[in-house]
Amino acid sequence: MEIKVLSADIATLPVKAIIVNLFEGVTQPSGATGAVDQALGGAISRLIAEGEIKGKLSEVTLLHTLGKIPPQRVAVVGLGKAQELTLDRVRGATAEVCRALRRVGATQVATIVHGAGQGSTDPNQAAQAVVEGALLGLYTFRRHLTKEAEHKEMEELTLVERDSDKLSALERGVARGRVLAEAAIFARDMVNEPANYMTPTIMADRAQEMARAEGLECTVLDREDMQRLGMGALLAVAQGSHQPPRFIILRYRGEGAEGKPLGFIGKGITFDSGGISLKPSEGMAEMKSDMAGGAAVVAAMRAIARLKPKVIVTGLVPCTENLPGGAAQKPGDVLKALNGKTVEVVNTDAEGRLILSDALSYAVREGIGPLVDLATLTGACQVALGKIRSGAFTNNQEFLARVIKAAEDAGEKLWQLPMDEEYKEDNKSRVADIKNAGSRWGGAITAAQFLAEFVGDTPWVHLDIAGTAMTDKDRGYLVNGATGVGVRSLVHLALSYEKGRS
Ligand code: BES
Ligand code: MN
Ligand code: ZN
Repeated sequence: MEIKVLSADIATLPVKAIIVNLFEGVTQPSGATGAVDQALGGAISRLIAEGEIKGKLSEVTLLHTLGKIPPQRVAVVGLGKAQELTLDRVRGATAEVCRALRRVGATQVATIVHGAGQGSTDPNQAAQAVVEGALLGLYTFRRHLTKEAEHKEMEELTLVERDSDKLSALERGVARGRVLAEAAIFARDMVNEPANYMTPTIMADRAQEMARAEGLECTVLDREDMQRLGMGALLAVAQGSHQPPRFIILRYRGEGAEGKPLGFIGKGITFDSGGISLKPSEGMAEMKSDMAGGAAVVAAMRAIARLKPKVIVTGLVPCTENLPGGAAQKPGDVLKALNGKTVEVVNTDAEGRLILSDALSYAVREGIGPLVDLATLTGACQVALGKIRSGAFTNNQEFLARVIKAAEDAGEKLWQLPMDEEYKEDNKSRVADIKNAGSRWGGAITAAQFLAEFVGDTPWVHLDIAGTAMTDKDRGYLVNGATGVGVRSLVHLALSYEKGRS
């Protein structure tokens, strides 16, 4: 979709449809909405008076202009109460109104920049949010459908601002919004891909291709490299599948940046059958999304390469299938992880923490840190927090505060879960240093405690995205399927290390 910025009177533009907005409780629209209302002979204010338009968040009303102005349609989108407006509400409302206009075939659309005139919201951020909302909300995954879509794609979106002084700020917002949204879409595309089209090899190829295009350094370790290094945990998971494992390393170095790299680590299980501890077949198909953390890391690295903050970032993604082949690891097996610790594998379905433990040890050994890992790690986290917030765990409260701030900037919600010593009891083994699963209770926490054993003192945040990586309904800028969660949070985190940018 082409996105433009223009200084004009929105009612006069030669486009199929225009978008204006309304805050809840406003009876007489002002600004651009007021001007369009006047041009339509008071059609909007009449609908408000009749109670059809209330301005509730994401309420969409489509009006036909019947020749009164050049655009055939006006969409009025509700923004909720003015004092409750956030950038994330702008993203969500923009997404909903764009989908409504796509349904009626509006291919060229102009919109006012929701929130740009609003108190503390600066126009640059408002424009960024509008672009993120539009691109993410209009996303579809049609790669394997041979039938044409029933809708036409929106081809052109023009952001209209009357104050021409704001145009350059809007342009910057549009550019950044596009990079962020396209990165989240890159992740969604990888996650939505069925497991036969997203094997560890294919995932590594995508990362390599991306790195070449964006000027990033990319190294991919294969099974022999892992054997040489002693990645016994990753190898143990991989031994049940005919698909060879891959370990993706992506390196970004901002110009003039010094110090240790910030590390992003993502779980890359391209399909999780559970292994010998086989999952029930119902719902197993969803386990093609068990590489969502890894996809988020690869995609975030692409956005960082494009935005070029003055930081050093390394992305690590251990990739393998978790299958119950003849050579698969068995419950009760003991393995030796990269850092030398022995692990009793009591449940082969607790494979995420195994592959992550080797990736974390690798990061620590390479002097990478602070670290953020993202993983669709536990059903327990989804039970605890539902599908709205990702679980957050840390060994360093200060670093977590920074990650939470970055996630807020992205409109992604986190909730901290505890890491009390007492929970470690569940991971104690009689035959090895640690075991990979405990009781059912506090399963998200004991998984995090397992990971903590491999990071030492390096500041580290673990994000359990089991509940948030996929959605089964359209909600604001999230659409059925993969959400791309984590991508924009990671990018904001990297940007936060460059002073003067946020
Ligand atoms: N990939 C799953 C977790 C998951 C569940 C992600 C639902 C997304 C949606 C993970 O590998 C797993 O199987 N975890 C087990 C751990 C248990 C065996 C200790 C779980 O949560 O049941
Ligand atoms: Mn599993
Ligand atoms: Zn898994």
